[in-house]
Amino acid sequence: MWEEYRTLKVWNEKLMNAKVLIKRLAVALLIIAAVLGGVWGFGMIGRTGMPREDEQRPIILGFSQLGSESGWRIGNTRSVVKAAADAGIQLMERNAEQKQENQIKALRSFIAYQVDVIAFSPKVEDGWDNVLREAKEAGIPVICSDRAVKVADDSLIACFVGSDFYDQGVRAGKFLLRKMEGVPGPIRIAEISGTVDSTPMRDRARGFRDMIANDARFEIVYSKSGDFLRSMGKEVMRDILSTAEVDVLYSHNDAMTLGAVESIEAGGMIPGKDIVIITVDGEQGAIDLLKQGKINCVVECTPMLGDIIMVLAKKLVAGEEIPRVIYSEETMFTEFDDNLLSIPPRGY
Ligand code: AHR
Repeated sequence: MWEEYRTLKVWNEKLMNAKVLIKRLAVALLIIAAVLGGVWGFGMIGRTGMPREDEQRPIILGFSQLGSESGWRIGNTRSVVKAAADAGIQLMERNAEQKQENQIKALRSFIAYQVDVIAFSPKVEDGWDNVLREAKEAGIPVICSDRAVKVADDSLIACFVGSDFYDQGVRAGKFLLRKMEGVPGPIRIAEISGTVDSTPMRDRARGFRDMIANDARFEIVYSKSGDFLRSMGKEVMRDILSTAEVDVLYSHNDAMTLGAVESIEAGGMIPGKDIVIITVDGEQGAIDLLKQGKINCVVECTPMLGDIIMVLAKKLVAGEEIPRVIYSEETMFTEFDDNLLSIPPRGY
């Protein structure tokens, strides 16, 4: 009898201990949930569509980056991430790894999440109408950063912020006119262009052509896309050297130019002398080659768009008017400059 009672008592105590343990665990779980709720709260508020009037949570910005094809692109992503942190904006960043379908998916996920603003750098200009209409219907303003889109309804985009790529092409052409002053024709040009159907590819080509159109000495004897990739720049340049005689290389970005320079040197030619080289971006690597005389002209294209995107995001959320188009202020660096050695580090 006594033995039975003792066994029962031991079991009772064990049960009590277990209950206390469970209670403590439950309290701990509640505390953890409360803390995480605080951290993730922005997301939850965004998801349930609670308005921001109370200003109790940061603005949520969905940013879709098209990929990481160049040093420029990596610098651009870095600029956006840093600017968001500086501005106290919560950033949802998605990298589409050079695929438009991934960008469309990212935009849809931002819409589902009910972010406050979307910014995206579209890989190409066409194919965005449907997803942008969905964003508009959800009441989410969209900023096109760096590259533009072609849509039937302009109101699908709140604004464009980035470079004037046409002007970059014009600057490249102007440099060539100056460089070739007094040189008899024909002057044979090879062009390595950027991603097919992207804004910089279209506009850099157009601006350059418009600038040289009235000078009969110039002839574009070769033009092919290198997709803004260094490896492709190298490959396309190899092809150029084996199929055409050229005096000038106009390359739509530095990454491709760096690859092309490798092929020119591998082919026993001197870049910057045997072939005049004009490039766009202003990455540190290209500026270094300009200083060495291996590149003749670098047209600047700044990736530092983060701060202005955050300013625009805040204005849009506050319901303020913003300009439809904001172009970056940019310059160019050429062999004619006498201050090449004092160009400050580029940061990308
Ligand atoms: O859209 C800007 C272009 O895209 C830059 O010139 C290039 O380097 C980048 O990848």
